[in-house]
Amino acid sequence: MSDQVLPVARSVTALRGAIRGWRAQGLRVGLVPTMGALHEGHLSLVRMAKERCERVIASLFVNPRQFAPHEDFERYPRDEAGDSALLAGAGCDLLYAPERSVMYPDGFATNVIVSDVSTPLEGEFRPHFFGGVATVVAKLLLQALPDVAVFGEKDYQQLLVIKRMARDLDVPVEIAGCPTVREHDGLAMSSRNAYLSADQRRIAARLNHLMHDAIKAAHAGGAIGVIEAETQRHLHAAGFTSIDYFAIRDAETLAPVSDLARPARILAAAWLGKTRLIDNMAV
Ligand code: PAJ
Repeated sequence: MSDQVLPVARSVTALRGAIRGWRAQGLRVGLVPTMGALHEGHLSLVRMAKERCERVIASLFVNPRQFAPHEDFERYPRDEAGDSALLAGAGCDLLYAPERSVMYPDGFATNVIVSDVSTPLEGEFRPHFFGGVATVVAKLLLQALPDVAVFGEKDYQQLLVIKRMARDLDVPVEIAGCPTVREHDGLAMSSRNAYLSADQRRIAARLNHLMHDAIKAAHAGGAIGVIEAETQRHLHAAGFTSIDYFAIRDAETLAPVSDLARPARILAAAWLGKTRLIDNMAV
């Protein structure tokens, strides 16, 4: 079982050939897009896809268009063999690992921009990011045309952007969200956690603890703006070097809220040295 080798497709033709065979047997197909360096969070998406579809494809592509020039594209962790073994163990049927030239051949000139829900929070601090994500995910969805594509709530704003893109472009794929998988101390699993030193790793868990405290304070009737500002102070005191945002927002539109009358979401992005962590939870 464990030395099972997962089949891999490296071209759109090979991907579509495999899917055509499954479709001919009447099988449902699920897709889980990833950038690799897989952990339990990614594998939970594969398992959710497998519950809903007889066949599951995971894609592995470190998408250069969603990294700014100063970001970590070059040092992003890469381990295709390790990822392939983990995927096979989680019930994945096919790895789709295209080269850069397959996704972005010479002359590639299209950019998918989702306005509105892309603009605040991540959009403010990583203005290039959602254009890169929406473009590559639109391609992956159109290349595979799965029944269901599964994304993590860990990247909550990304999930909203992808749902909006699929709806706006009439992409005939159901977009499903999967709850965040966490370490025992509450830290959301992330491929970037591998960058943390032992000291930073200890501090990192405070982010989720302080989110819990903020949610409690909001339910106790505290003023949202005050809670946001106080938590940012606590994050600095805990050792976070910089805080991009710590915000309680409308869960659907991400607009600022002044009370909890509608469903709300707490979202944060904070730095430990050169490592940027994000997290979010329902309020
Ligand atoms: P990546 O960061 O590799 O994440 C792939 C998928 O795994 C995303 O849907 C993400 O939300 C989900 N995920 C990551 N950590 C998780 C956790 N702890 N619990 C649950 N799900 C988790 O997100 C991307 O790649 C890229 O932007 C991508 C969508 C592949 C486009 O390039």
